Amino acid sequence: MIQETSPLGSSQPDVDMALFGALGDLALRKLYPALYHLDREGLLADSTRILGLARQDDDSEIFRGKVADALKQHVKSSEQSHASLERFLARLEYLKLDFSDVEGYERVRDWRQGARRPMTVYLAVPASLYGVICRHLETSGSLDDETRVVVEKPIGHDLTSSQAINDAIGDVFPESRIYRIDHYLGKETVQNLIALRFANPLFGTQWNQNHISHVEITVAEQVGIEGRWGYFDQAGQLRDMVQNHLLQLVCLIAMDPPANLDADAIRDEKVKVLKALKPFTGDSLDRDVVRGQYTAGTSGGKSVPGYLEEEGANTESRTETFVAMKTEVANWRWAGVPFYLRTGKRMPEKLSQIIIHFRQQPHYIFDPDQRGLAANKLVIRLQPEEGIALQVLTKDSGLDKGMRLRPGPLHLDFNSAFPKSRIPDAYERLLLEVMKGQQYLFVRRDEVEYAWHWIDQLIAGWEARDMPPRRYPAGSWGPVASIAMITQDGRSWYEDY
Ligand code: BG6
Repeated sequence: MIQETSPLGSSQPDVDMALFGALGDLALRKLYPALYHLDREGLLADSTRILGLARQDDDSEIFRGKVADALKQHVKSSEQSHASLERFLARLEYLKLDFSDVEGYERVRDWRQGARRPMTVYLAVPASLYGVICRHLETSGSLDDETRVVVEKPIGHDLTSSQAINDAIGDVFPESRIYRIDHYLGKETVQNLIALRFANPLFGTQWNQNHISHVEITVAEQVGIEGRWGYFDQAGQLRDMVQNHLLQLVCLIAMDPPANLDADAIRDEKVKVLKALKPFTGDSLDRDVVRGQYTAGTSGGKSVPGYLEEEGANTESRTETFVAMKTEVANWRWAGVPFYLRTGKRMPEKLSQIIIHFRQQPHYIFDPDQRGLAANKLVIRLQPEEGIALQVLTKDSGLDKGMRLRPGPLHLDFNSAFPKSRIPDAYERLLLEVMKGQQYLFVRRDEVEYAWHWIDQLIAGWEARDMPPRRYPAGSWGPVASIAMITQDGRSWYEDY
């Protein structure tokens, strides 16, 4: 998709990877399976080595055993083969390290001794450790001018803390070698948004307030807190999902066409969107934002506890597990077009989709009774069953139907349209891009900070009003107020689940 200008931009980038947090949940569940798939598809150079770093008292042999177990658990059995597993495991080495102690980092330097390829440092650890690890790597002489660093969200819990974290990384690495992951940017359909918008003149000319009436984004999760109460209760759904994933989706939908596909051209346009987001003030906080917290209910046919009854819960917590809001990108392209966002845990199903609602025709010639039939909609399904559907009105078939209209989709289902191609997990795409030295799918510092700036004012408003979350039963689509929020505008959440 991007013009490969870097010498590292070959399809088989030759790099080493040092993975901090090598035995953590992210590494075991997502990173090794992604690296395994890249290897299996011939996208890792023969010489690429992976050094796992963690505090546990393991050696390379035990480490490989743990990674093998994780792969068996998280890679489909049809995608496992003895030869690919052996080939991948042979790349792995392990180093026990106390990350906060500079002693020991010289072994990273020794591991790299003589290697001519660049190193990617992946920090799958809490953000509080980013600064210290970067510093110790530098002090021990483990870095060179090509080393890249990959960091995960959450980058702070507000603007000030995110600046401190970004400063600590920035003291060691220039921005051009920092890769901040938002895994939503690695999802296949999210990348397709760029292709859809900028490769198809049909959409290019319609993509503005003259033709679009409103935009809906739903990111619903069926899971609850999954043993992460400690982290989640400090964050809440607004910080955990909206500050990053949902705002990135808003940026990709709302941004102006970049001059080219260079990372900074795209990111410059995204930043303009973040700067144009309307702040919530006064009444709009009560009217246009709904916070919710789930109570006991049913999920996937089973009874599940409420948020306050989850293991380790503080029964007084007012943290939100659901947010719905109506916002606006206040610029020429989008003035007056509401963006309705909602995301929550313990909803009836896992579903992420974006709906672009086009305006009605200015002059209507069909049966007046059918006037209420919705206008065109573009439904962009991120998960599950990635695909894009354009809802159009056509004539109903049958001699007795006259000119009766019928809504129906022009449908592109990725699985059936491209049956031979496996849809890669977001981490596969992202890891490959880091190794190639391509930053366009990663979040630049100013994006993170403008997003926090907007979220901070929203949280300050909540705090000033001391607003408790509204209750919703697990297994429902959120508090009733989130439905009222959109129906008061004469609209409803798109329901074609
Ligand atoms: C993570 C959040 O960033 O995204 C989790 O911390 C959330 O709370 C997850 O469950 C959702 O990701 P996905 O890819 O399953 O939609």
